Amino acid sequence: MANVTFKSPVMAKDVTLYAVAGDRGTLLALAKEHKLPIPFDCGDGNCGSCLVEIKHLGTNKPYGLALTEKEKEMLRQLGKITPAEIENAETNDMPPRYRLACQYFVRDEDIAVIFAGDETLP
Ligand code: FES
Repeated sequence: MANVTFKSPVMAKDVTLYAVAGDRGTLLALAKEHKLPIPFDCGDGNCGSCLVEIKHLGTNKPYGLALTEKEKEMLRQLGKITPAEIENAETNDMPPRYRLACQYFVRDEDIAVIFAGDETLP
């Protein structure tokens, strides 16, 4: 089971969700299901509008992952991944600080998800 805490200046308070095993969609799907206002457009890693910062909570090392070329390229275009982070992702499978919510699959680890959101939303 994973605790996923969403934080944003556009939300009145933080929201923590409990993602259970077998319910491991993307972060964006989880946010949409609970009507949390992470911006999105394409839903497929092509636009960058769903950019989020991930903080790993607790003492466990973050799960390793192979960042897809698509996500890596979009993060690079957005200026949200450093060459050192790319190197670390490629050689050590260490996730970078920023991710695309539509490309991030929720796993069995506690995380905080921070997003700017759309200030124009009510
Ligand atoms: Fe377009 Fe995630 S919604 S990159």
